[in-house]
Amino acid sequence: MNQDINGCLHILTAKQFERNFLEYLFRLTDQIRKIAKSKEGMLFLSNLLPHKRVMLYFTQPSTRTFLSFQTSCHILGMKTSEIRDPTTSSEQKGESLEDSLRTFSSYVDLIIMRSPVAGLCDRIARLLNETYRPISVINAGSGPDEHPTQAILDLYTLHRGFEEKGGIKGKKICIIGDLKRGRTVRSLSKMLSLYEDVTIYFVSDPSLQIKEDLRESLLKRKNLDFFETDNLLKALPHADAIYMTRTQSEYELDINIKLKNAEKYHLKSSHLKLLKEDCLILHPMPRCQEIDRAIDLDPRAFYWRQERNGMWTRVALISKILGVDDRILLPDLPSY
Ligand code: NCD
Repeated sequence: MNQDINGCLHILTAKQFERNFLEYLFRLTDQIRKIAKSKEGMLFLSNLLPHKRVMLYFTQPSTRTFLSFQTSCHILGMKTSEIRDPTTSSEQKGESLEDSLRTFSSYVDLIIMRSPVAGLCDRIARLLNETYRPISVINAGSGPDEHPTQAILDLYTLHRGFEEKGGIKGKKICIIGDLKRGRTVRSLSKMLSLYEDVTIYFVSDPSLQIKEDLRESLLKRKNLDFFETDNLLKALPHADAIYMTRTQSEYELDINIKLKNAEKYHLKSSHLKLLKEDCLILHPMPRCQEIDRAIDLDPRAFYWRQERNGMWTRVALISKILGVDDRILLPDLPSY
C-alpha cells in the first residue's frame, strides 16, 4: 500500500493494493459487523469520528455508491456535504476542476469522488499532496477506468462466500457482459491476481471484450490464468463464481447500436441447472436485464448481500484512512 510522504492514504487504483492490506481490511470489516449488531456497538462506532467532515463529490450518476459511502460515514459519526451537480458550481464560471476541488478540500477532512473523467482522482490527490493541508481522496468510480472500492467489496463477498471452501485461492471466476467499458471488471480482475491460482473466464460479445491495456497487464501476472470467450453456455459449468455486468450504454453509443445480441449474455433461470451447486452469483448493480429476477430467490444469488458488504467494507476503509481502526480492533471493547 503506498502511503505518500505527507501521510495521507489515498484510494485511487486497484494496482495499489497488497494482499496483506486486503486481509487486514476484511478482518476489520468482520469486527465492525459484529460490533454493529447492538445499540451499544452502533453508538461506539458513531463516536469514532464525529469531529471529522467528508465531502462526497459525485458528478456522475450514482445512487447506491453515493448512499453506501454516505451511510458508512454516518455510521462513523462523520458529517457529510455533497456536490452532485457541477452546473451549480463555479466550474460554470470557468473555474478549473483543480481549483474547485482544492477549495472544497479546505472545508473537510476527506474527499470521496466519482467523476466521468478518468484519472481526475489521481490528479486531485497529487495536487492536494502539494498543499499545506493535504487530505485523503477516495476514488468512487473514475469514468470507464477504475472503481477500486467496488473491487474491495466484491473480493470481500467472494472471501466470505468461499470461507468454508478454502478461500478465493484456486477458484474459477466467470466475468460476463460489457468487459470493455465496465470499470468494475477492470479493478476486480487486477485485484483477483493477488490470490494464488485464480482463473478468470471473460465472457462477452467479441465487440465488448476487455481492452488491450488490461489484457497486457493481466498477462504479466504470474498468479492468474485467463480465457476470453463468447460462449456463455460452455463457460458457466466451470464457474465457482459468476460476476454479471450490465451494458454500459452511457459510453460509446455506436457500439450499442451494433449490439443486437446482448441477451445472449444474460443469466436466465434456465441456466441455473448448468451452474455448480454452490456457485456464487455477483453483480455490482444496478441490474438491467442481465439476471432474471426469479434468480433472486436462488441461494446462489449473492448480489444483495454484496451491496450490504459494500457499506461495511467502506466503514472499514474510512476508519483505516482516518486512523481509528486500532480502536475497532482493540480487544477491550465494551461487550456487544
Ligand atoms: C458500477 C459502476 O458505477 O461502475 N455501479 C456501482 O458503483 N455499484 C457498475 C455499473 O454502473 O454498471
